[in-house]
Amino acid sequence: MIRKREHFGSRFAVIAAMAGSAVGLGNIWRFPFILGEYGGAAFILVYIAACVVLALPIFYAESIIGRAARTDTFGAMSKLAPGTPWRWAGLLTVVSPLLILCYYSVVGGWSVEYLFKSLSFSFTDIPAEEVPHFFGRFISSPWQPVFTHTAFMAAVAFIVLGGVNKGIEKFSKLAMPALFVLILVIVGYSLTLPGAMKGVEYLVKPDFSRLTADAYAAALGQAFFSLSLGVGTILTYSSYVKKEENLLVSGVGTAVSDLLFAIIAAFAVIPAVFASGLHPGAGPGLVFETLPYIFNKMGEGVPVLTTLVSSIFFVAILAAALTSAISMLEVGVAFLTDERGMKRRTATLLLAFLCWVVGVLCSLSFGSLSEVKFLGLSIFDFLDHLCSDWLLPLGGLIFTTFVGWKMSKASVREEFTNGGTVNTRLFGVIYFLMRYVAPVGILVVFATNLLL
Ligand code: PHE
Repeated sequence: MIRKREHFGSRFAVIAAMAGSAVGLGNIWRFPFILGEYGGAAFILVYIAACVVLALPIFYAESIIGRAARTDTFGAMSKLAPGTPWRWAGLLTVVSPLLILCYYSVVGGWSVEYLFKSLSFSFTDIPAEEVPHFFGRFISSPWQPVFTHTAFMAAVAFIVLGGVNKGIEKFSKLAMPALFVLILVIVGYSLTLPGAMKGVEYLVKPDFSRLTADAYAAALGQAFFSLSLGVGTILTYSSYVKKEENLLVSGVGTAVSDLLFAIIAAFAVIPAVFASGLHPGAGPGLVFETLPYIFNKMGEGVPVLTTLVSSIFFVAILAAALTSAISMLEVGVAFLTDERGMKRRTATLLLAFLCWVVGVLCSLSFGSLSEVKFLGLSIFDFLDHLCSDWLLPLGGLIFTTFVGWKMSKASVREEFTNGGTVNTRLFGVIYFLMRYVAPVGILVVFATNLLL
């Protein structure tokens, strides 16, 4: 059965949807605390290099496969390399974003909770020192995080049900510019705090002596996570990109917006951390424990200010998390509708339900299921490590190897240059990066993960 495939309506829509997938908790929650752990400005430089030399080629590899095949990851591999085991590699990248969604939705739920806490003045009614304890109490409570996880997952399913044009595209177009403005407001606020300049210095004055060997691996892993690479998301979105679209431009557009968001988020978070005398290397709790504390301090005596700033911040996080989460679900939905002929509605509800169930287990692993361990890790930590340390780099390796070594150079050139009309001069460099540099880089990440 040949069905007409939906397309993104414009170049802006393509970049907005892809950047919507890329910009998420990875930028606002993960990037500030990772760079806080690995030395500020110097880490940012390594991160930028990792994005350009390694992540961007993988981004192009996914774009080329997706647009050439015009179908989901599994179908794309079967179509471009029929009768080979490559399709099973494609299947892996259908499963991994769904696995990420299970726990990502839990963290999305935390943002829902923190938004409600902000709106109900919970961060202002108590002494600042009490605020960080909210987090531990909240995530270990038996039903509250499950409830907010449910709300988050329901929102994701609702948007994906709308289909490409009505749902994802419409939502991304609205959320991305709004998010940009929201974070800038926080940066402006953060920079006015006394002591904030120390944080700015930390972000702009590189201290290379702080760069350890694992900082490079951390930068690469962050680039994968942040650009949604290795999980078929960019591949699937690219299957909705028109043939006339310039892949080079949409890739650079997405990478630049993702980087910009990460750096702006760092400028929103780190100066505020310094201004409050806290430590930038506070770890994953940085946003959920430290910022409400900082917001409380900032608005001492003016509860409305605290509420306003923290609400704006958590709305921003929520919007970013939603646009990322819908892209994770879309990969699986595209697979079931394209490969199995399932109705979009059935596929969406089925997958959202399955991810919800696993997500409930992840959520409970902070409380009643905290004793259940896999390889010494809680369910939540196990899934997180499995995905970011292994599945994303593995997926990236599969895609670059496929483009660099399985597809013919002529067909890769045809797709990347739109039949020889654009990017012809840059093709050689990009192809070299896809064929040699990116696979070796990923193997280095694997090696460091194994050895460190
Ligand atoms: N890039 C997203 C973020 O930064 C996370 C993500 C990973 C989204 C993989 C889709 C696929 O939060």
